[in-house]
Amino acid sequence: MTQDKTANRLRSRAWFDNPSNPDMTALYLERYLNFGLSLEELQSGRPIIGIAQTGSDLSPCNRHHLELAKRVREGIREAGGIAIEFPVHPIQETGKRPTAGLDRNLAYLGLVEILYGYPLDGVVLTIGCDKTTPACLMAAATVNIPAIALSVGPMLNGWFRGERTGSGTIVWKARELMATGEIDYQGFIKLVASSAPSTGYCNTMGTATTMNSLAEALGMQLPGSAAIPAPYRDRQEISYLTGKRIVDMVHEDLKPSDILTRENFINAIRVNSAIGGSTNAPIHLNALARHVGVELSIDDWQTYGEEIPLLVNLQPAGEYLGEDYYHAGGVPAVVNQLMTQGLIHEDAPTVNGHSIGDNCRGARIEDEKVIRPFDQPIVQHAGFRVLRGNLFDSAIMKLSVISPEFRERYLCNPGDPMAIEGVAVVFDGPEDYHARIDDPALAIDEHSVLFMRGAGPIGYPGGAEVVNMRAPDYLLKRGIHSLPCVGDGRQSGTSGSPSILNASPEAAAGGGLAILRTGDRVRLDLERGTADMLVPEEEIAERRRDLEAAGGYSYPAHQTPWQEIQRSFVSQFETGAVLENAVAYRQIAQGGVDG
Ligand code: FES
Ligand code: MG
Repeated sequence: MTQDKTANRLRSRAWFDNPSNPDMTALYLERYLNFGLSLEELQSGRPIIGIAQTGSDLSPCNRHHLELAKRVREGIREAGGIAIEFPVHPIQETGKRPTAGLDRNLAYLGLVEILYGYPLDGVVLTIGCDKTTPACLMAAATVNIPAIALSVGPMLNGWFRGERTGSGTIVWKARELMATGEIDYQGFIKLVASSAPSTGYCNTMGTATTMNSLAEALGMQLPGSAAIPAPYRDRQEISYLTGKRIVDMVHEDLKPSDILTRENFINAIRVNSAIGGSTNAPIHLNALARHVGVELSIDDWQTYGEEIPLLVNLQPAGEYLGEDYYHAGGVPAVVNQLMTQGLIHEDAPTVNGHSIGDNCRGARIEDEKVIRPFDQPIVQHAGFRVLRGNLFDSAIMKLSVISPEFRERYLCNPGDPMAIEGVAVVFDGPEDYHARIDDPALAIDEHSVLFMRGAGPIGYPGGAEVVNMRAPDYLLKRGIHSLPCVGDGRQSGTSGSPSILNASPEAAAGGGLAILRTGDRVRLDLERGTADMLVPEEEIAERRRDLEAAGGYSYPAHQTPWQEIQRSFVSQFETGAVLENAVAYRQIAQGGVDG
């Protein structure tokens, strides 16, 4: 029987059934018996399965996992395993100050310690809100015990006066309506709240829907599971099946290092373009690749992803929301469309033991308004363009969200249709931007290019989602909604602004943004992928000397111990904003530490 074969190599045996160390075995056993498990359960050679619980009252997006875990437990038990549930450090995208970005690496570290240091043979990763997904996958990659992800699922669709309102996305629109006087403050709050009608994560194609879709494209979730809305009965069912499956994965010794291959990352990059995925995806997938030891660069995103058309018609780039995405066929329908064009590595492995090709082949589109066939896309070239120049070594732009209004105003110079030249207006961090954006003294007009610096992983610890800056109220009233924005911070995946973001190195790490000044002319060439300040070389050298003499770009003091620790070890966005020292630790359940 598989169970007997497995029993001898279960790592939990070192705790619960180790005849060479009876004292410690007794101590471990007596304490885990303490909450009601029996000796028979702990010593029968059954896999001990962790449920890494990311839901809590502090993390409303993932809170439904507290319910779903009951069905996961039933699945684990049914398949012959023992469930042990434990908390993961909470990460709430919208609730954490100063940034939830700080907590991805903290939750990662905490989960690595738990998975490595406790008697767990496999783990169910409960994913959902933006950074809970990468944090859990990164930790599973580092430790490398059998792991399967379970999405909490999106909220139901939001509605207001007969129209869909998408979480996050509606805030940008509501803010504009309030600026033009169409709604008051009460109306603003009501409109925003309408977008979040149930438990679950953001119902738009923000970072949460993106990362949950990509976790499935990477092969780490059961096929078809990512898009199921949180309150649906199917969500309960897939939770049960996920619990059952992880026990089999322990018997099969199927680990993250077996699943997270470069082919799967390339598949995920292409799926990301086709779904209109968030600009946070490169940060998180590059981080995950580094922890699992797969080569992946920011250029891979352009090489493999840029040409892929946008097929999924979800807000902010499109019209629909999470429930519609599920009914239209979810990730398998998207993967199948890409497969028909030879754009998927079909042999790439997944957690159910079958290849992604076998899982998704023939998956139908059930509603072509929501998921388009490959030859009738919403827009072509939906991936990211990588830009470089004297402003930074790399930054990315999502070309697919450029609105017709923006295109007409900025991208129509005859002979040079994809270049923007303008005058820089520079903000140092989100507080500075909020304080000054409406100040007429800045004289922002349609020739201005807004810059946000001091918002990267070091400058605003964790990196702030603030690059997508709105135009000043006086321009909004004139019908000018979006100005070109550039910055070393991130952008909320729920925002549709055409921004150049994730600039690396950031100002706080000595990037070119640190010496940019308001009034400098800048040139952004989206065709050639360049981004430069049009400042003479000698002047640049002089500003560099001045910056050095001043001790570098200054950023706010640390407020917590973790901010200081993270700032000393974090890499730039281009390389995943990982804790640089953690990258050498790979497959540590098997005793591996590189270099
Ligand atoms: Fe948690 Fe959007 S804020 S998923
Ligand atoms: Mg976000």
